Amino acid sequence: MEKFYLTTPIYYVNAQPHIGTAYTTIAADALARFYRLAGTQTFFLTGTDEHGSKIEQAAAAAGKTPEEFTDEMAAKFSLTWDMLDIAPDDFIRTTEDRHKKAVVLFLELLKKSGKIYEDEYEGLYCVGHEAFLNKSDLDENGLCPDHKKAPEKLKEKNWFFKLSDYGEILKQRILSNEFVVAPESRRNEILAFIDQGLEDVAISRPNVKWGIKIPWDEGQTVYVWVDALFNYISATDFPKGEKYKQFWPADLHIVGKDITRFHCIIWPALLEAAKIPWPKKVYAHGFFTINGQKISKTLGNVIDPVELAQKYGPDTVRYFLLREIPFGQDGDFSIEKLEARYQGDLANGLGNLFSRVTTLIATKLDGVVPEIVPTPRELKDTALMMAEMRFHEALARIWEEISWANRYIDETKLWEQAEKNPKLFGEVICSLVALLGEIAEKLAPIMPETTEKIRKALAADSIAKAEPLFPRQK
Ligand code: ME8
Ligand code: MG
Repeated sequence: MEKFYLTTPIYYVNAQPHIGTAYTTIAADALARFYRLAGTQTFFLTGTDEHGSKIEQAAAAAGKTPEEFTDEMAAKFSLTWDMLDIAPDDFIRTTEDRHKKAVVLFLELLKKSGKIYEDEYEGLYCVGHEAFLNKSDLDENGLCPDHKKAPEKLKEKNWFFKLSDYGEILKQRILSNEFVVAPESRRNEILAFIDQGLEDVAISRPNVKWGIKIPWDEGQTVYVWVDALFNYISATDFPKGEKYKQFWPADLHIVGKDITRFHCIIWPALLEAAKIPWPKKVYAHGFFTINGQKISKTLGNVIDPVELAQKYGPDTVRYFLLREIPFGQDGDFSIEKLEARYQGDLANGLGNLFSRVTTLIATKLDGVVPEIVPTPRELKDTALMMAEMRFHEALARIWEEISWANRYIDETKLWEQAEKNPKLFGEVICSLVALLGEIAEKLAPIMPETTEKIRKALAADSIAKAEPLFPRQK
């Protein structure tokens, strides 16, 4: 593949980055690293969603201006990703000028399409969702089931987009896979939703100040979702930038299953109206709970990924999330599960193999690996699994090799062979070094720090007894 442009959602800055938002961003980073290592021109974008009522209210609650508040929070997101070894090529904030300018151009294109009209609208607005809800979405107490709050009854004059005109083309392009919606379960949901008939959507808010002004009606601001979705394009310097020419359309939007309708229905329809090419694919992964419960501020079970990274190392967090929950499915997070994998897979698995091999070389061979061409062990290929975001399968395969090697060392009592059978010992060590090297390369997209440590240790002129990769927890 020549180029690969992938994105995460841009996260609302009303809340701190948490393990859920870290999950999507880690997965995207792993895929971006995989493509870069394969020599593909890769553009990996993440960022923050900073306009709208929700942010306006959060800033007020924090006693700050929206500008101050969003600056602080955006910096927090960026720093958090850094701490997790997430390396995006760009980080876009919707309050940046480059974004605001591009959104205005986009709105003008929409207006020209003839698919925008003004109408009076009465509806139930959930600020948590930043969206109008239907009565049927509410629970028996009339609350939004996700945010446990009664939606606001709004009667507003809005600018509307004729989404209802786009059911046919959406269906046709999804069915033909010209526009891929994955996994299958999400594709079926979207198709079923289109079949119910699409309703027009408001693209402006008359009473929200914290937003981008509608160019032809400055008393209104752009609906935050329309503003947010366009980040994927404004970051490419639409309409004339080199990046736009090189990278748009995006190859992949990675999102959580909570925001598929925005990405698989509203977004392509808006693009169609503006005569901009659609992204090629949307992949919506599952949601995970913490100890079986929804992640929620009120429950106080929000997990700070920075604390986890400080305690266990960024690679452990990355490994755990991508190994524990098959990408695309729902799952559950718990510290117990993380510690079990840390002890089992990491410390006793990869860490043990690495330390045994380096220790044997240091103590039995004076640090020098004999120059024998090792018989390569047939390693199962994991490239396709990585490209298809089947991270857990790729990792499981790699760990089969690790277990095999550790078992082999045990069964042959390898440490006794240095004296008993030096020729065989030298050959086996050579093979193990080659295997470890291969494992490290395969792990590079997911565990970059570990890869670097292994690479460095094995490349040394004299291999020393190495520091443990995954030390025992204090
Ligand atoms: O929706 N499990 O931002 P957001 C897995 N600003 N993933 C989770 C998760 C969980 N429990 N909780 C959150 C928005 N996520 C908009 C997006 S894009 C143009 C605008 C992840 O801060 C998942 O990727 O609410 C989900 O889609 C995203 O965080 C929602 O982040
Ligand atoms: Mg959300």
